[in-house]
Order: sequence, then C-alpha cells, then structure tokens
Amino acid sequence: MSPFSNISETLEWTLAEGEPATAVVPGFEDIEDACRWLTARLPDLRPALQRYGALYLRGLPVATVEDFARIRDVLVPQRTPYREKATPRSSFGNDVYSSTDLPPAQPIRMHNENSYTLTFPGLLMFACLVAPEEGGATPVADCRKVLDLLPADLADRVRAHGWLLRRSYSEHISVSWEKAFATESRQQVEEYCAENLISCRWDGEGNLRTVQRRPGIIRHPESGEEVWFNHLAFWSSWSLDEELRETLVDEFGAEGLPFETGLGDGAPLTREDLRILNAAYEEATVRQVWQQGDVLLVDNVLTAHGRDPFRGDRKIVVAMGNPVELAACRPTVAASAEPGVRHERHRGHSGGRPDDAGRSADPLPPGGRGHPGTYRRPRPRPHPHLRRTRPQNRRVGRAAGCTRDRARDQGGREPAPGRGPRRGAARGVAHGRGLCAA
Ligand SMILES: [Fe+2]
Repeated sequence: MSPFSNISETLEWTLAEGEPATAVVPGFEDIEDACRWLTARLPDLRPALQRYGALYLRGLPVATVEDFARIRDVLVPQRTPYREKATPRSSFGNDVYSSTDLPPAQPIRMHNENSYTLTFPGLLMFACLVAPEEGGATPVADCRKVLDLLPADLADRVRAHGWLLRRSYSEHISVSWEKAFATESRQQVEEYCAENLISCRWDGEGNLRTVQRRPGIIRHPESGEEVWFNHLAFWSSWSLDEELRETLVDEFGAEGLPFETGLGDGAPLTREDLRILNAAYEEATVRQVWQQGDVLLVDNVLTAHGRDPFRGDRKIVVAMGNPVELAACRPTVAASAEPGVRHERHRGHSGGRPDDAGRSADPLPPGGRGHPGTYRRPRPRPHPHLRRTRPQNRRVGRAAGCTRDRARDQGGREPAPGRGPRRGAARGVAHGRGLCAA
C-alpha cells in the first residue's frame, strides 16, 4: 500500500487570473511526512514547472529554516553558490538566505537570478516563514511571454548584440568588491574576471570597475524555448528617479555608477526602451499573496521574479540550485569581456560565435582580459571645488540634502563620519531604491 493512500495522489493546479499556478497540498503530520509525499510527486512537478514556469505549493508545514532546508533538499537537490553578489542578503546557514535585506518600502524589479554569470541557478525555491501584514508578494513573470510582448526591433537588437553590464564597486555605494567576490585579494578578483569573461580595472581610489557582455535572449536547456533573460531593465540608470540619477551621476560620474546597462554593441538603452521593457514585464507579471508555509518554486530561466513593497514583519527565505551553464542555453551572442564594438574589432576567424563552452572564441585583446588597458578611460571630471560652485551642482546639492533625509526615512545608512554628506546620501538612497538588488 502506498504510504499516501489516505491523501491525494495528485497535484491539482489552480490558474486564477493574475496568479501563478497554485496547488494546495494535503495536511501532513510533520515535515518528514511532507518530504516523502513531495518525493513521490516529483514526476508531476517537473512537467508542471516546465509548463507554468513557477509553482506555488500551499499548506506545507514549513515553519523554520530547518524545515525549509529539508524541503529544498527534495525539490532542489543540487545547490549553486551565489556569485558576483549584488544584493544585501543574510545567510541562515546550509545555503539558505534571506530573499533580500533591502528596505520594505522599495519594490524590486523583475529579473532572472544571476543572468550576468556564466553559470546560474536553474531553480529558485522561496518559502514564507513570516507572512507580511500587507503587500510583499514575490511577483513572477513568464519570460517566454515577455519576449513575445516586446517589439521585434528591440528584441532583434538584443538577439544580435546581447547586453552590457557595467559595475562600479565603490566603498561609498553598492556592494564592495570584497563582498561581491568573497575575497580581499585583488589578484583573485582579476583571476575570476579573466576566467569569467569580465573586463576589470582598478580606479585611482582602489575601487573596482567591471564590464561584461552577455546574451539577453537564450533558450531553455531542456525545452529549447526562447526567453528574455537579463538584467537590462533592472540595472538601467533610467530605472532610478530623475533626481537620484542626477545626484549619482554628479557624484560618481556616468562611468562610476554602481550599475549601468546598455546594448551589447555599445549603444545605450534609451528611456523609451526601458518603458517598453517595463510594460512587457508588467503585462506578464502574476503574483500570489504569501501565507506562512507557502513554497514558491521558480524555473529561473523561464521566469523572472521581483518583490513588492510591504508593511510589517516579513521573512521569506530562498535557496538556489540546479545550476545551468550558459553554453547549454544556445546563446545567440557570445559572452565576452568587451563591449561589442571592441569585440568586433578583435573578432577572429570564428566570426565571434560562441565556442562549445558558450564563450567568445575571439583572441584576447592587447593586455589580456581583465587588464586595465582593456577598459575605456572614464571622461575627465572637473575639480571638486569647481564642481561645488557650478550652479547646476548647487541644485544637485540641494537635491542631495533631500535624499539624505529620504535615506533615513527609507532605512538607508547615514553618511559615515568624515565622509561627504552627499556621498552618504547617495549611498543610502541607492540602497533604498533597490539599486543593489539582484
Ligand atoms: Fe532575485
């Protein structure tokens, strides 16, 4: 006799308007009982996940991080590390993390986890240990639908050139390079960047700047379905409100923003492009209200996720697993360290097509990948005293005064003692604005 002969043998998916596929599981005596039942349901879960992209399981006895880890071991057996960190997270041990530590008032835009790394998690598993009082959903968007909704010209530009990510790891803002790369060794960072097709250089203040080109449209490694898969909209500086964008550009320079994206041929993403992208995500987005014990399983290639603002306590934990190699996703563009325009210049006999590992087959540019000489020199910036006296900077200075207050309101950090208030303000607001989320 089946150990589950007294409870439902099947998962029945409810597809309500605006909500992801949701199944209410039977009542279980304890977490081990639930794990045995889920193990028997795995053959049903896999095709359902492929079809719907994200699955809500409601009614599981998940009350603690340990319960979550037990379920994770059943549903996401292979773990993946969190590389090139870009968001503040708390680790609860056993590869279980907080979904994000960003302030409650800030929404987190839709993204596929680690779309900028050469290996990324194929599965994400979230669970609700404490349900928020109000809001705080983890919205999901089917990236097959997002791609279908985009105008052909924008999709074709990304299909042809991929997208670019520029990061600046400053001590004043965003995640430090030490945290992002989990090392205090510059040499190890340079080795990682060389190995992972990332251009890197150190600026005069010892801060790291990186550039990487990645394909923005890939295919699911199993089904072959084409999906929109990138952080192009997420980290575009057009996503920031205008006042904050001006403040950050004034303080750090356009080349020194913590994150910026563009098209893979070096063309900028326009404000109108961003509007179109956000509209496509919005139309494809569905959400479920979290209840304590809910588990959300997300196919990270098929589905983007985000976070709604919330009030009250909220404890959503996450684990990542089932790693996918970019090369297994038939990228239309080779991942490379260089912007497309330089890539073209160095293109060899391969025509720039990806090799078997999904990497650029192009020869290394002079100095090798990751060498400071491979990165464009930032435009010269005016002397700080001149900048302070320029009328437009007085205006920005006033804006920064406002943002400092907002940083406090939004839970951002106060300026560090001895640092300029504007840097502290920009840093606090950048955190508060979800600039650092992944
Ligand atoms: Fe995320």
